[in-house]
Amino acid sequence: MTSIDNLLHEDRRFPPGPEFAAAAIAQPRLYEEAASDRLAFWADQSRRLLHWNEPFTEVLDWSAAPVAKWFGDGKLNVAYNCLDRHVLAGHGDRVAYHWEGEPGDARTVTYAELTSEVKKAANALAALGVGQGDRVAIYLPNIPEAVVAMLAVARLGAIHSVVFGGFSAESLRARIDDAQARLVITADGGWRKGKVFPLKPTVDAAVAGESPVEHVLVVRRGENEVEWTDKDLWWHDVVDAASNEHEAEAFEAENPLFILYTSGTTGKPKGILHTSGGYLTQVAFTHENVFDLHPETDVFWCTADVGWITGHSYAVYGPLANGATSVMYEGTPDTPHPGRWWELIEKYKVSIFYTAPTAIRSFMKLGGAIPAKFDLTSLRVLGSVGEPINPEAWVWYRDIIGGGKTPIVDTWWQTETGAIMVSALPGITTLKPGSAQVPVPGISIAIVDDDGTPVGKDEGGLLVITEPWPAMLRGIWGDMDRYAETYWSKFADQGYYFAGDGARYDRDGDIWLMGRVDDVMNVSGHRLSTAEIESALVGHAAVAEAAVVGAHDETTGQAVVAFVILRSEYAELEDASTELRAHVATAIGAIARPRELYVVAELPKTRSGKIMRRLLQDIAEGRDIGDTTTLADTSVMSIISDKYAASP
Ligand code: WT7
Repeated sequence: MTSIDNLLHEDRRFPPGPEFAAAAIAQPRLYEEAASDRLAFWADQSRRLLHWNEPFTEVLDWSAAPVAKWFGDGKLNVAYNCLDRHVLAGHGDRVAYHWEGEPGDARTVTYAELTSEVKKAANALAALGVGQGDRVAIYLPNIPEAVVAMLAVARLGAIHSVVFGGFSAESLRARIDDAQARLVITADGGWRKGKVFPLKPTVDAAVAGESPVEHVLVVRRGENEVEWTDKDLWWHDVVDAASNEHEAEAFEAENPLFILYTSGTTGKPKGILHTSGGYLTQVAFTHENVFDLHPETDVFWCTADVGWITGHSYAVYGPLANGATSVMYEGTPDTPHPGRWWELIEKYKVSIFYTAPTAIRSFMKLGGAIPAKFDLTSLRVLGSVGEPINPEAWVWYRDIIGGGKTPIVDTWWQTETGAIMVSALPGITTLKPGSAQVPVPGISIAIVDDDGTPVGKDEGGLLVITEPWPAMLRGIWGDMDRYAETYWSKFADQGYYFAGDGARYDRDGDIWLMGRVDDVMNVSGHRLSTAEIESALVGHAAVAEAAVVGAHDETTGQAVVAFVILRSEYAELEDASTELRAHVATAIGAIARPRELYVVAELPKTRSGKIMRRLLQDIAEGRDIGDTTTLADTSVMSIISDKYAASP
């Protein structure tokens, strides 16, 4: 509701400053070129941005839709594009990463050093039997070795599957098994909230017993004690000893680059598959144009962990393909003090900063006095991603962090799209707080009604992508039927990709995102599935039935709220809420732990037995529950809402 109200009343406009526009990378002709010949546009961008060992002649092959081939007859090496060519062009001394650990230890990694490390790691992985097409799971803190590992895998034409370090052993095992990974790269532990957070025991549990994993490569970071198994090898033993000479082989443009798991509407996460040439083209193009990247002078900081798609595309592949200098930070934003991020911006003179609305809102709560203690004048472009940014947070971000002068780009995209799809371009677009605004040049977006008919200005509907795009997913690992069904069946007649988001055009035709229309929640910009959490809950011996909803939360956007019915034998279970919330964290990961969990006697169901999540969401958000006439038993609702009202 709030976003619709904002949409109707938001009339602040921020046109580009003339000085910014004069030096801007993105030029209005990009829109014209893309509109006149979309495929030629992407071909030009790809040739300009990447090194092709074998040039492509065909741009798009959509004959096997919905699986696209982009630049299909070309060959390239992704790691070479991110590393060697910058060194060969004389930029070896340029900093690739200013890395900072949570305790304050720091490392500066130049392009020459990163290239050398990746070559060593590639040799070490090859010696362990990793080759083209093999899957390697990466479960690491946000440290340079995570980047080295990803690029070494890419260099060999193998496929990485990075699993965010907050996921549980069970989640890690499911991902390892689904991809049949033969190697895991992890660390003893990493720093989080002032402590070492152990990772190795989680990997031990995830690969114990029957597992496709042959070796576990362990980076020393936390220096915590670890148990050793016969699968284990220290990273510093095998990588440091390897040769730093390694020639990158060229692979086909469609050679798979990575799998990244994301939550869907069922209990089983989807392994989103991305490939090489098209992905790298679009991440490089958007990183350059959406953020106005001047690689010689800018310092770019994307705060996402490499375990998420934002980290893949804008902390690793985009910046490295463009030869940019990035900041990478291991820890939490408020450790050891709440100004840590601003301190890092001052220290490294960050000029482009990309983060999520949930972070901005939590800083807003702490107040402007904290960032005011730091010199943030190096900032010239700010970005937002992960969920809609409310206009109040947008304006605070611009005024307090951006000194009232920086453009803000609100970028809409998904794990599946691989790269930014909807965003303003700084220097061109007149900005409007709260709106993601316009498709990126070369990207075709529409908002349509349930039948696929485009809606007009001032109307809402579903966001669809009407033409294939270079960084699009190429499938769901091991389940191409689910791929076709999830994304392409709703608008099969039109051939549109269904994103799962509701959206509106305002009266100027700008796009506003309105949130998911499926059973996917967005908590702190991370995607969680109601079904996955429900299935974790019913996996507990005490739980007979569970229903999970995403309730509005002022800071995290949405929060997980669970309603459970206990089995009669467990009716007297003490502290059920604490126990079951902890159970979800163990089963999936701490990010999925419900904010609240209520034990109820019944769940509201339709006469056909479907749980009415909308009603539960109304209750969780404190709304009047309204019309319940389709409910099988209306007394259920009053019982639940009484219980909810009585809770702390
Ligand atoms: C979902 C994708 C790739 C970004 C990180 C999350 C929501 C993402 C925005 C935005 C409104 C947004 C959508 C989307 N979302 N960016 N700028 N405005 N909503 O990636 O986990 O794959 O989630 O995040 O609902 O479908 P993800």
